[in-house]
Amino acid sequence: MPFEKTILCIGAGYVGGPTMAMIAAKCPGYKVTVVDINADRIRAWNSDHLPIYEPGLDELVKETRGRNLFFSTEIEKEIADCEIIFVSVNTPTKTFGHGAGMAADLQYWERTARQILRHANSNKIIVEKSTLPVRTALAMERILNASSGNTRFDVVSNPEFLAEGSAIKDLDTPDRVLIGSQETPEGLQARKAIVDIYANWVPRDKIIESNVWSSELSKLAANAFLAQRISSINSISALCEKTEANIDEVAYAIGTDSRIGAGFLKASVGFGGSCFKKDILNLVYICRSYGLDTVADYWQSVVKINEWQESRFIRNMLANMFNTVAGKRIALFGFAFKANTGDTRESPAIYVAKGLLEEQAEVVISDPKALSNAPKELEGVEGDMTFEPDPYAAAKEAHAIAVLTEWNQYRDLDYERVFESMIQPAFIFDGRNILDHEKLYEIGFNVLAIGKKPLKHF
Ligand code: NAD
Ligand code: UGA
Repeated sequence: MPFEKTILCIGAGYVGGPTMAMIAAKCPGYKVTVVDINADRIRAWNSDHLPIYEPGLDELVKETRGRNLFFSTEIEKEIADCEIIFVSVNTPTKTFGHGAGMAADLQYWERTARQILRHANSNKIIVEKSTLPVRTALAMERILNASSGNTRFDVVSNPEFLAEGSAIKDLDTPDRVLIGSQETPEGLQARKAIVDIYANWVPRDKIIESNVWSSELSKLAANAFLAQRISSINSISALCEKTEANIDEVAYAIGTDSRIGAGFLKASVGFGGSCFKKDILNLVYICRSYGLDTVADYWQSVVKINEWQESRFIRNMLANMFNTVAGKRIALFGFAFKANTGDTRESPAIYVAKGLLEEQAEVVISDPKALSNAPKELEGVEGDMTFEPDPYAAAKEAHAIAVLTEWNQYRDLDYERVFESMIQPAFIFDGRNILDHEKLYEIGFNVLAIGKKPLKHF
């Protein structure tokens, strides 16, 4: 039986793969194909070892792959064959030329547009799934419609709000799905086609429709607001450490105000991930380009506090370990930017590891899912570093442990055993506030957490 709809996704990454697997699972009548220029990545999507770790993803892919979900490198053929194209390629911060270090690098995005133009032989709806600067849809439509002959392209914005580590749950029961389009008859028709896909499983009142610019800007603004909350609580964590207030108690007290809300108030060594920093910098760049320098400064401070929080963590380690870590073995518990993912992009652990290596510490990195990515992040960095999946082995004969990712398994270790195996005095720096600090102190550790009174035996 022919498929009801043919959907293509360009970009088989952390967003493209899980999102398309969910669409395929919820819409068995649609044919969903995901393509990528990275042949290794496509090979992995077609194997038993998917290229990314995400709870629930293996099961979803197993259910749909080969039925109505396909992974391929035949980009040209797939462009020609489909009706709707989601573009989910990477949009990192630009590293060169005008806007370097701030603006979004749109080269992958534009290359995709030109590829679509070259190989499309029928009308297509192009869906912006990647996070893009506001007004990108206009540029996209111009490129596509400038020399397309009789083929018509309508560009719709449908930003993704999933968080890594909970992607499958977020896709299954999203807080909202946002779909923006031009408000012309053709634009509205294209918008409806995308609404119809999500309406297969998302309640209609959670599908928000808007103009295309609002949709693009809402994505950048949502990430900026989320990151701002973390920088806000982290700034207060520093004050807690000076005043003996406890950051968990403060976060709970303020978060119970329904106008503030409890989520995203967990103090930490800093926020990481591939998006918060890049999206805020992009927002800052856009504001500056419109002459809104005060607005730009405001959002830039969110990134500044984050960098300060990361460097404060290292300074705190040094100060407590008698101002030197040279030659001391230090175990890092966690390298992923958050729990339940193997993703290490912009992880605060990279910054901490580099800082400790500069101080000539012997750094042992442990993580249940990120040890294949971790060495790539530290490529070219000089110093004594090893990678050890077993946290007990990592901590053996170490002077200190730094908890950098909130993996559940670190809560449940036998810390008496860990303590016995370490050099004394033994330190734990809990960069995620996930451990039982009083208990660790009773065992004999010196415990330094974020936004809490130090528990030291001397
Ligand atoms: P990613 O780097 O994991 O995946 C992007 C993929 O696109 C790569 O596999 C790359 O090879 C492929 N690609 C690049 N150019 C291509 C081309 N011309 N043709 C075919 N494939 C091409 O990135 P990601 O984390 O999935 O993010 C993608 C976009 O989604 C970004 O704009 C990001 O900001 C946004 N986003 C990410 C998340 C997240 O949690 N990771 C959440 C929401 C939105
Ligand atoms: C974030 C957003 O939460 C998603 O909605 C968005 O779609 C995505 O960015 C994106 O655009 O890429 P993600 O970066 O995957 O998702 O993960 P988050 O759960 O937001 O965590 C980001 C960082 O903040 C992590 O390092 C995490 O440990 C840290 N964090 C989070 C805190 O330090 N405290 C908190 O209270 C919450």
